[in-house]
Amino acid sequence: MISRFTSTNLLRGAVRYYGSTSTSYTLPDLPYDYKALEPVIAGEIMEIHHKKHHQAYVTNLNASLEKYAAAESAKDVAAMIGLQSAIKFNGGGHVNHSIFWTNLAPKNAQGGVSPSGPLADAINQQFGSLEKFIEKFNAQTVAIQGSGWGWLGYDKANSKLVISSCANQDPLSTIGLTPLLGIDVWEHAYYLQYKNARADYLKNIWQIVNWSNVAERYSKAKRLKHIHDKIAFNLVNLLYSIHWMDNRIE
Ligand SMILES: [Fe+2]
Repeated sequence: MISRFTSTNLLRGAVRYYGSTSTSYTLPDLPYDYKALEPVIAGEIMEIHHKKHHQAYVTNLNASLEKYAAAESAKDVAAMIGLQSAIKFNGGGHVNHSIFWTNLAPKNAQGGVSPSGPLADAINQQFGSLEKFIEKFNAQTVAIQGSGWGWLGYDKANSKLVISSCANQDPLSTIGLTPLLGIDVWEHAYYLQYKNARADYLKNIWQIVNWSNVAERYSKAKRLKHIHDKIAFNLVNLLYSIHWMDNRIE
């Protein structure tokens, strides 16, 4: 009985904690100057991309969440449903760009330096080599119709790296993958410099990929999977013990 009481309260506390929402998101600073990624990405592109596009996602996300909170208070389910696509689009835009900025680094700050350690091992094992991985990633990403993102993700169910893509601003998590490296192929990310040559943009961007950031995300994703598996294992044991105790009491 004590176990049940404690676990119920723990669950309620967790729901309260994770269920709480903040309606105020802010534009993160870039970890480098706008011109620092030149000549691969022009400073003008970076400034507009960050100050205008990413800022617009943040502003519209906050506005949508405020409207959602009002609709929820009024128990207006139709209005709540109507806001979901704006929240997905602008929330995805905020999440994706926040990852993208940190996935890149200037050449004089380790940008383009090949990965090492477990991430490099996994890339070599799954794709043959970094070069083959890039070739496959670029082929898949250049073919995205319209606007979207190319991704290297982590599939925690199979403990594998996955090359994937998402349309518009859909976050990679919507297809069950943990984002490690995202490349923005909306035209606003390259058009001022590369015009319609998306393939050239994709060919050059590897010179400024921050592989240590990608490796850090990979390590964290694997750690979280380990913790998740451990919790699931302990939870099953706990439930089994409660069931066993209940049977003895009865
Ligand atoms: Fe973008």
